[in-house]
Amino acid sequence: MKIREATIEDLSSIQSIYNQGIEDRIATLETALKDDSYMLNWFHQHQDRYKIIVAELDEEIVGFASLNPYNARDAYKGVADLSVYISRQARGKGVGTLLLDEIEKIAINHHFHKIVLFTFPFNELGQGLYRKKGFREVGVFKNQGILDGQYVDVMAMEKLLRS
Ligand SMILES: CC(C)(COP(=O)(O)OP(=O)(O)OC[C@H]1O[C@@H](n2cnc3c(N)ncnc32)[C@H](O)[C@@H]1OP(=O)(O)O)[C@@H](O)C(=O)NCCC(=O)NCCS
Repeated sequence: MKIREATIEDLSSIQSIYNQGIEDRIATLETALKDDSYMLNWFHQHQDRYKIIVAELDEEIVGFASLNPYNARDAYKGVADLSVYISRQARGKGVGTLLLDEIEKIAINHHFHKIVLFTFPFNELGQGLYRKKGFREVGVFKNQGILDGQYVDVMAMEKLLRS
């Protein structure tokens, strides 16, 4: 397994993996599948410190993680929001762990002091991964979003990278 920075050539694989996460209704409140122009815009918004990395196995992209802007205010420049998505057939096999190990190093090298994320409490693999990697539950927003006509709770988690 190779973990490396994403290039534009990886974008269609990233798009497929992200859309699987949307279809599976366990990862995000997004319900509309993302098209090429959305993904291109997303890729170009990830500049400088806001890195995207991919996991590559036998020349196939099986997962990605990204550091996303958390808030445009200067006071929050040390806080990154995290996304991580693994392709269906590669979930539960340690790929997320490898991506988080690497993205954490990258975040520290780019002077982030904290990573935050928002996840569904019922995302068992996500909970397993984040808690194993030392993320702390900040709290649960009750009925925070509507997914397919139903309210869903959203959990905020955080990891301090340096004190
Ligand atoms: C959530 C996700 C990123 C986790 O990545 P992953 O590669 O599947 O996770 P890993 O295999 O590295 O597992 C991490 C830990 O979860 C735990 N775990 C594994 N299988 C589990 C299961 N069936 N139930 C609960 N916890 C489990 C284990 O502690 C595991 O670590 P260990 O194997 O060293 O003990 C991935 O499953 C995924 O992309 N899911 C769909 C999209 C998504 O939900 N993204 C997150 C949005 S917040």
